[in-house]
Amino acid sequence: MKLIDLAPSVTDFAADAAVSLAQIPPKLHSKHLYDEVGSQLFDAITRVEEYYLTRVEQLIFTTRMAELARVVGPNVRVVEFGAGLGDKTHRLLSGLDDPREVVLIDISKAALLSGATAIETAFPHVTVTAICADYDEAITLEPHDDRSVMFFPGSTLGNFTNEEAVVFLRRQRALVGPGGGLILGADLIKDPEVLIAAYDDEAGVTRDFNVNLLQRLADAGGRVLPHHFRHEARWVAEQSRIEMHLVAEQATAISVLETSVSFKRGDSIQTESCHKYTPEALTELLAESGWSTAQIWMDDERRFAVVWATATL
Ligand code: AVJ
Repeated sequence: MKLIDLAPSVTDFAADAAVSLAQIPPKLHSKHLYDEVGSQLFDAITRVEEYYLTRVEQLIFTTRMAELARVVGPNVRVVEFGAGLGDKTHRLLSGLDDPREVVLIDISKAALLSGATAIETAFPHVTVTAICADYDEAITLEPHDDRSVMFFPGSTLGNFTNEEAVVFLRRQRALVGPGGGLILGADLIKDPEVLIAAYDDEAGVTRDFNVNLLQRLADAGGRVLPHHFRHEARWVAEQSRIEMHLVAEQATAISVLETSVSFKRGDSIQTESCHKYTPEALTELLAESGWSTAQIWMDDERRFAVVWATATL
């Protein structure tokens, strides 16, 4: 295995929070949700009944793998941003026709090394490269004789605004070059009740995931009383997205570094947005980013979409 460590600077949570909490309305960036506790809670979310996304995407991959392998073709190089433990890549490689190379990119070196090692062991004929970097880092790929395929599952695209998504997708397009491909997993617009339940489950796992951010802030030296806030998932139709908020249940204040923000009851901090798409909106977003949508697979209830797109000439 080849490890390229771009040593992503661990963003100072307190410094970042001090800036984003001072905005009107106050925000905390969703990337800070995924500390060690948060990543474990997210993992638990993928198994709660109401959070259909992971389960349905997996179902589509399982039932459509043969078709996917056919359109992707043989001997490809697979590249995944935010690969984490690499388990989705692992399953994809098992289904593809003689894949040659895999490039895993993740900010967590521990997750990256463990995933890359497992893949190397399971696929001795696949060349494994692990790059420790965050999304914004300028990644370059070695030349490769066959097709390069970006793999971006899990509805992670939904965390970007449409403008950010276009910037990201254009970069992916540039990376894979002519003839490149993209396998994208994205969540679809549906009954708001179903969407809200997915982000506000009965067992309260998503609540714990969201509130953990305030505990983290306290641990980083911020003055905050997490129990003054409750978790809320909102469907914002105009933006076609679920927003997660932490809503003050009483008048309270947060201070971190030089910033001090007071909250009236009902004021909130926005912590994550998860955009939902129609198949048409996805096709359009991709077209704007240099990708031609060739195929969209959905489950019977049209809850989730897996898209195969190729680099537009
Ligand atoms: C990991 C960003 C895809 O947006 O559905 C799940 C994160 N937040 N429940 C999503 C998440 C609350 C998840 N992504």
